[in-house]
Amino acid sequence: MSEAEFQATAVKAARTAGEVLQEWSQKFTVSEKSRKNLVTEADVNAQDAIFRIIHDRYPDHSFLGEEDLAVENASSDFRWIIDPLDGTTNYVHRFPYYGVSIGLEERGELKIGVIFDPNRDEMFTAIRGQGAFMNGEKIESSDADLLYDSMCVASLPVGATGGEPQVAQFLRVLPQSRSVQRTGSAALNLCYVACGRVDAYWSGTLKPWDQAAGVVIVEEAGGRVTKMNRDAFDVEQPDLLASNGKAIHDELAELLTGS
Ligand code: IPD
Ligand code: CA
Ligand code: CA
Repeated sequence: MSEAEFQATAVKAARTAGEVLQEWSQKFTVSEKSRKNLVTEADVNAQDAIFRIIHDRYPDHSFLGEEDLAVENASSDFRWIIDPLDGTTNYVHRFPYYGVSIGLEERGELKIGVIFDPNRDEMFTAIRGQGAFMNGEKIESSDADLLYDSMCVASLPVGATGGEPQVAQFLRVLPQSRSVQRTGSAALNLCYVACGRVDAYWSGTLKPWDQAAGVVIVEEAGGRVTKMNRDAFDVEQPDLLASNGKAIHDELAELLTGS
């Protein structure tokens, strides 16, 4: 079992899931898991396709996926963390910014990240210690040093109201940066930090499947990932600040946390 094999399996699964998403894009129906938290047949069928491909190859591994996928094998060192469709609200509205995210942890350490954008046919990949790539070409995070010149992205909670602390954070950064966007796919946001299209991204609402793969891709592209207060990132916690690793990381951490 080599890292390259793991990655090739994840790439195959992500591409297949991308096909499932595009197949369903003209015929899905929408349900609400909770208020404004949407799910379609595409989410579920894409996850089934990913699970089938990876589980066939690695039947002893553990799995965690957004659509009620939890397979725990205490004797395995490996856990796959899967979001079959990151950006479901965008998908439902035919706003072409969503992707498939597959991460692999080995003994609790994030090792491999694969994220596929089926609209642009962009496959982002990284293996810990071996760099980050888009469609096989090496990618690097941006050089932007000053927040004033930077393009940021933030997530806001589903159904956020004006009084929410995360809305206040958004508004604090807005005048200090060139722009703050809210785009609707954490996984693609992380890929965009990794390839320099975006200088920084933060969120206080993420689940493991939103961030596992993207964190490896950002770090391998030369970026930095911490909690918003600069403590060590933890995939189980909903608290992420990802950036190009330049001075804007500290500038943002201070603005976001007030310290
Ligand atoms: C959501 C997206 C969004 C983020 C939310 C996630 P989903 O994932 O990544 O950008 O702000 O926190 O839940 O539900 O579309 O897979
Ligand atoms: Ca997600
Ligand atoms: Ca999802």
